[in-house]
Amino acid sequence: MELLKKRIEEEGKVINDQVLKVDSFLNHQVDPLFMMEIGEAFRERFRQDGITKIVTLESSGIAPSVTAGLAMGVKVLFARKRKSLTLKEGLVSSKVYSFTKQEWSEISLSSEYLTSDDRVLIIDDFLANGQAAQGLIDMVKQTGATVGGIGIVIEKGFQTGGDTLREQGIKVESLARIQSLQDGRVTFFEEEEVHV
Ligand code: G4P
Repeated sequence: MELLKKRIEEEGKVINDQVLKVDSFLNHQVDPLFMMEIGEAFRERFRQDGITKIVTLESSGIAPSVTAGLAMGVKVLFARKRKSLTLKEGLVSSKVYSFTKQEWSEISLSSEYLTSDDRVLIIDDFLANGQAAQGLIDMVKQTGATVGGIGIVIEKGFQTGGDTLREQGIKVESLARIQSLQDGRVTFFEEEEVHV
């Protein structure tokens, strides 16, 4: 997605060769109009996949999921990272290891909102080692629903998550795929050029 690559180039801050900061439109401040474009881009890429629901993980996955849900006309369910006072019944959970934070956490969602008829699009802001995505896949399967695809705003293609998920036969579509963050510069994979 050209517009996304432009925003990353103009506003992204390369923290080191592993981490990109995009707080101006994705991870802290949200640009709603731009988020609408991101939602449309996900709709384009998953229009043939029979998606009935979107599942994401709080917090930065929520904004692109809501605009994708709006574009696709489906509801959005976000998994929680912390126990909720009101969310206790019928929970499914999964343990997720964060390489960035070097800690385990338990994520959960209510099975009340997913059925075996649902075909789920999992959306997240970043794909690094794929731990969050694996946890979400695990929970979707526990509810009996099917994973119809994974939509990522920014994939760090030099980390293992994307390849591992694709090797499982899952359709993974990333709106921007970063090849490297060497020398303070963002380099994208060329294949992104073919997408709108
Ligand atoms: P993984 O799920 O792909 O294995 O990623 P990892 O555990 O390494 O990531 C943990 C958190 O860091 C996630 O956000 C993830 O989106 C984010 N993250 C990973 N790499 C980058 C990066 O290069 N830049 C930025 N900005 N974020 C990155 P989180 O802790 O769940 O945060 P939030 O959703 O509450 O904002």
